[in-house]
Amino acid sequence: MAEQGRSRHAQTLKAYDGEGFAGKRLVERGGAVYEFDTRGVRIERGGKSRFYAIDWLFGAGHFARTPVLRWGGQWVEQRLSWYAETGKLSLSPGHPLRPSSTFEESLGVRQSERNAERCFGCHKTGDRPGVHCESCHGAQGEHPAKAGIRRDRSVEACAVCHRSPLKEYASATPEVDDPMSIRFAPVGLMASRCYQKSAGRLDCVSCHDPHGKEKASGNHDGVCRSCHVERARPGECPRSANCAGCHMPKGKPAPYLEFTDHRIRRP
Ligand code: HEC
Ligand code: HEC
Ligand code: HEC
Ligand code: HEC
Ligand code: HEC
Ligand code: HEC
Repeated sequence: MAEQGRSRHAQTLKAYDGEGFAGKRLVERGGAVYEFDTRGVRIERGGKSRFYAIDWLFGAGHFARTPVLRWGGQWVEQRLSWYAETGKLSLSPGHPLRPSSTFEESLGVRQSERNAERCFGCHKTGDRPGVHCESCHGAQGEHPAKAGIRRDRSVEACAVCHRSPLKEYASATPEVDDPMSIRFAPVGLMASRCYQKSAGRLDCVSCHDPHGKEKASGNHDGVCRSCHVERARPGECPRSANCAGCHMPKGKPAPYLEFTDHRIRRP
């Protein structure tokens, strides 16, 4: 299980060390100046300057990293995130677009205790940052091999964090109702005919190694072909390589963030 330690799951949260941020300076349209180092951020506005220590860095760095800090007795999600696509700092997903006008607004968006607990709940395993054995296998302390995951329940096990259509976006075409929902793989997958008509034979583990050793990108053709054995139909489906490239389109529900729409469908 050595791979698991190097997986993005294992690295999705760490104590803030400035990775992606340290040494970067950004001037906001409204005039606020942000300067990050390995401990936190200095914010300057209206001739005044304040330093804020940052506690955590969320995100393994494949898409983005977002700093989270404790300030004034509350958790705050920093206004700026680092994006892998550009290598630069930009507004954190979902934060107000208008320029910040106070130190508090420059610092970011406050999170209720309950909300922050939820963030850590999905990005941490007990006291340990990251998603590890017990996050999926449960039974803390127990040997995970014994606390097995029933294969037919694996979509549910993943949906605990990756979101479930039973709670959110229950729809035949979730990506139309809310483009943001393509972030949530179980929502799309469970809306697919492939999933609905194959009696539990298609799940997350069909295409993803839960222990992090990823198969070559885009190379899930063997999985598709295990069910779709029909031959190509000229003028319709070429049945050519990279099925997912046509049948699981990429989408950008927010700037600099690209996800794979898991509702397998006719293009
Ligand atoms: C405890 C919460 C949690 C559970 C349970 C969970 N995930 Fe994740 N998963 C995450 C988080 C958080 C990330 C984001 C990693 C990052 O920061 O980029 C992620 C990222 C991923 C990725 C993209 C990164 C990669 O490693 O390629 C895949 C694929 C994935 N999860 C699949 C699964 C599957 C399959 C399951 C069920 C077997 C599952 N996850 C269960 C929280 C979870
Ligand atoms: C219900 C579980 C859950 C909660 C709550 C949650 N996350 Fe995540 N987070 C995930 C999963 C799953 C992923 C990977 C898939 C994705 O990107 O949506 C992820 C990905 C991320 C990423 C990587 C960039 C990205 O968008 O893929 C960052 C940064 C992040 N989360 C920060 C946060 C912060 C900060 C909070 C709280 C304000 C939070 N998350 C709350 C499950 C969760
Ligand atoms: C992201 C969720 C997730 C994490 C994290 C995770 N596992 Fe698993 N694990 C699974 C799933 C799902 C299966 C069932 C796979 C299957 O049936 O194909 C599984 C199966 C197993 C098995 C059965 C043999 C096998 O490989 O199929 C063992 C043993 C195991 N896990 C150990 C671990 C250990 C040890 C860790 C921590 C180092 C760990 N797992 C972390 C989801 C996870
Ligand atoms: C476990 C079996 C299984 C797997 C794996 C599978 N499918 Fe399917 N797929 C089905 C079934 C069953 C249907 C429904 C056929 C019907 O309605 O007659 C279906 C339907 C479809 C449809 C038509 C959808 C629609 O809404 O009309 C497309 C396109 C498709 N699959 C493509 C794929 C691709 C591409 C992959 C791999 C990424 C894949 N499937 C993997 C079983 C599977
Ligand atoms: C039929 C194959 C297939 C199945 C089943 C599948 N995925 Fe994926 N998934 C992909 C492909 C293709 C990508 C794009 C990256 C790649 O090529 O591996 C991807 C990417 C992801 C990512 C990275 C972010 C993104 O959107 O690109 C996450 C997270 C993820 N899948 C989670 C899941 C979860 C959770 C499940 C179960 C609900 C699941 N996947 C089921 C094929 C699949
Ligand atoms: C270049 C894009 C492309 C690729 C690659 C592709 N398809 Fe398709 N496929 C299509 C289009 C377009 C349709 C819709 C045909 C229609 O609706 O008349 C389709 C339809 C389908 C259907 C539903 C109708 C049918 O023919 O049964 C299935 C199932 C399917 N594809 C499976 C696959 C599989 C499996 C692969 C990989 C081996 C694959 N496709 C690769 C474009 C593609």
